[in-house]
Amino acid sequence: MTAFIVHPMATGATLAGRLALPGDKSVGHRALLFSLLSETPVRVVGLGTGADNGRSARAITQLGARLERDGDAIVITGTGMGGMRAPTADIDCGNSGTTIRLMCGLLAAQRFATTLFGDESLSKRPMRRVIAPLAQMGAHITGVGQGADLVPPLVVGPAPGPLRGLAYELPVSSAQVKSALLLAGLWAEGVTRLTEPGPSRDHTERLLAAMGAPLTVDGRTVTIDPAGWDRRLAIDAITVPGDPSSSAFLIAAALVAGVTPGAEVVCERVCTNPTRTGFLDALAAMGARVVVEGEAVHGGEPVAALAVRAGGGDGLVGTEIGGDLTVRAIDEIPVLAAVAARARGVTVVRDAEELRVKESDRVATTAAMLRGFGVEVEERPDGLAIEGRGGAPLRAASVHAHGDHRIAMAATIAGLVADGPTRIDDADNVATSYPGFVDAMRALGARIDVVP
Ligand code: S3P
Repeated sequence: MTAFIVHPMATGATLAGRLALPGDKSVGHRALLFSLLSETPVRVVGLGTGADNGRSARAITQLGARLERDGDAIVITGTGMGGMRAPTADIDCGNSGTTIRLMCGLLAAQRFATTLFGDESLSKRPMRRVIAPLAQMGAHITGVGQGADLVPPLVVGPAPGPLRGLAYELPVSSAQVKSALLLAGLWAEGVTRLTEPGPSRDHTERLLAAMGAPLTVDGRTVTIDPAGWDRRLAIDAITVPGDPSSSAFLIAAALVAGVTPGAEVVCERVCTNPTRTGFLDALAAMGARVVVEGEAVHGGEPVAALAVRAGGGDGLVGTEIGGDLTVRAIDEIPVLAAVAARARGVTVVRDAEELRVKESDRVATTAAMLRGFGVEVEERPDGLAIEGRGGAPLRAASVHAHGDHRIAMAATIAGLVADGPTRIDDADNVATSYPGFVDAMRALGARIDVVP
């Protein structure tokens, strides 16, 4: 298993560079999975090369899609909504929660059975949240009992009859659950209307609407009303914007390690969809200056450059992250915690129970990671209280990433300002979302060794 050795920044050394980010993982999943449903071939540009998106790509080929590379694009010839083919083998969703949950919605109305399975981490993740409402729509899905929940492997279908629309209030804000139900709603008889407690990412709504789905959004409520619709979806091209969740690590690196005077750290063409930019708001509240430049809409998603021109950590202060902000920054909490460790004062993260059911229990793994660096952290049922070290160096650590890509990358950021080399074990899964992470960090001026 791969480990990272992160060397602290030498005295006076700083970061600089201008980087393109890999395609956004969430938009990439949707580009792949929804292209299966398109009546016309779809030219997808900017897709990331992470293993999670690779799982969705493989899954749609198993259901009848054809993928061809054409220059920097992938051309996907799907089956349309009516032409999906029963897979001849079980579908391996790897580490990808988005693949398995969205596949549940995609397959719920099919008249064949599909088995979905994943790696050790995915095999512990709760699936009742999608299975229960899909069952209310008339789907037949089984999982493995674990405590009060159901976990993979899942067997989806065959649907005993047509699905029915559903009026449903999501108990938690979850784009994966919302997307699964919206996908099932495409096949259902009657209206599917979903209301969420908070602003989860809305890439599904944007892309399905662009493909001609009868979808409307009113505040926190999304409706699919298929009356009079011919159940045909189509789109010619999808541009995947850069991944804000990946950019957060580079931005955080610049903020804690500092930017070379007169230079800058710039992340190009990053998705600035407001449901994804909570980390920018949290960083602003900590006193960081991240400049959003040249925002423009490409392919239905806002995109901009994110620039850091000053950093070094000394000016950062603790903050509170809670409510809608937590939802809008949910995947960035580990890296925000690493920045908070460097800030002056306490940072409190609230309303983050969902972090406990991500690729790892991220409340626990983030707390353990920071404690390794000598940071005082209180673990709470719904979050963390982090005692910032006010610009003082962290203690060189030996960190276990627990197979969680975002813990490994957050620890890398903290390691830049430790008092010696930091070892991060079990870092292979960085490849699920950001295979080029180490190269990007090195390009900015960080020193990281990758060791077996
Ligand atoms: C995602 C939704 C979020 C997020 C995950 C990706 C998506 O999960 O944490 O990394 O692409 O829909 P939940 O929907 O479970 O909150």
